Amino acid sequence: MTALPADFVLGAATAAYQIEGAAAEDGRTPSIWDTFSRTPGKVLEGHTGDVACDHYHRLDEDLDMIKDLGLQAYRFSTSWSRVLPGGGSRPNPKGLDFYNRLVDGLLERGIEPYLTLYHWDLPQELEDAGGWPNRDVTQRFCEYALVMHDALGDRVRKWTTFNEPWCSSYLGYAAGVHAPGRTDNTADSVPAQHHLLLAHGLAARELKTRGAEVGITLNLYAVSPETDSEADADAARRIDGLCNRIWLEPVLLGRYPEDLKQDLAPLTDFSFVRDGDLDVIKAPLDFLGVNYYSRHVVSGTQVAERESRIGEASAYPGSEFVQFVHRPGVPVTHMDWEIDAQGLYEVLQQVNGYTSLPIYITENGAAFDDKLDADGKVNDQDRIDYFEGHLGACAQAIEAGVPLRGYFAWSLMDNFEWAWGYTRRFGMVYVDYEDSQRRVPKASAHWYSDVIRNR
Ligand code: NOJ
Repeated sequence: MTALPADFVLGAATAAYQIEGAAAEDGRTPSIWDTFSRTPGKVLEGHTGDVACDHYHRLDEDLDMIKDLGLQAYRFSTSWSRVLPGGGSRPNPKGLDFYNRLVDGLLERGIEPYLTLYHWDLPQELEDAGGWPNRDVTQRFCEYALVMHDALGDRVRKWTTFNEPWCSSYLGYAAGVHAPGRTDNTADSVPAQHHLLLAHGLAARELKTRGAEVGITLNLYAVSPETDSEADADAARRIDGLCNRIWLEPVLLGRYPEDLKQDLAPLTDFSFVRDGDLDVIKAPLDFLGVNYYSRHVVSGTQVAERESRIGEASAYPGSEFVQFVHRPGVPVTHMDWEIDAQGLYEVLQQVNGYTSLPIYITENGAAFDDKLDADGKVNDQDRIDYFEGHLGACAQAIEAGVPLRGYFAWSLMDNFEWAWGYTRRFGMVYVDYEDSQRRVPKASAHWYSDVIRNR
């Protein structure tokens, strides 16, 4: 593998609902993920985040583990309803205390905190008031961001407003496979997306005036047509549009792509966009976070169902006819996602075409069906190969001049994988849910520690 620059940051990431547990403790109130996961049929095997990795009660042990692995940085999210119960405006001292202890614990151990304000867990009361399709939520998010900055801004330098707003809007309000699980009007997902971006812009501006370094994390994909047919090329244009450009262009250029506005015209007239919104959304940033997992190979050609077709684009309003396809022979992870490190290089080049902002890979990783060996170890060579390939793509992008500054493995430890519950393991550390939440570093954790030491 090509060497990574000496100042390249290597860390790992998690998110509040996926690891904390303590869902009803110390004043925390339900978020949309509590409600969704408790609704029968929404999450595999009825799993919830009630206990998760019990990180809330194992904070010191987990901080020591982060330190022992040699991570330079740790990316985590804060739970809005832990800090502002009911989505209200009165801060909960016990909730803030937890994040104070987390940040102090990281700094004492020489690990830089990267804080994400929103990793999908909207306070339920704000969903009851209309959720992200309701513009009012943007102001509430801004208030929450400032409460967090008042509490932690003296110690946390790197602030990310949103994690993967694509999931919050399209999986949450169109496909309905994520909280809040709404599918009644897929067009709602488009104003939801706009309001997520508006909330980002409003909060980013405020945070920056207070001296924070601010970014947003987008989940971006390499997108390819299955064949060179016109229909497949158009499918690729739409999907690249709806998962990549419809985020990158407003955030970085202050506009929505014209072709997508036309695609979406039968569903929405974009009248929810008010004068000045796009200027707010194009807030000056300090970095861009990119989560990369896989490539989408798509087809717009109507052909008979066959094995390599893995589903329709129900999360892409107006493009539900597009088919996702597997290329024969390309290996997949336990999520059934194609492994394609070159796609990461392509995505970084695409982003760099829009901006010269510093970029962080805020998530990259893979789920595999990990098992504890008889001798109590987990040999996840497939995950090591995945990381090695993708870190190689990072090195290649840096050599090509992309200002890539760091990489966060997803994830520090196995956790609640949303609609898949605990059945999908992304961690470098195995969590033995059956045996008092024991943490067992997998082979990939040892490998990653070694990469951090030796570059
Ligand atoms: C991206 C999300 O941010 C994270 O929460 C999730 O667990 C990983 N992808 C894997 O699906």
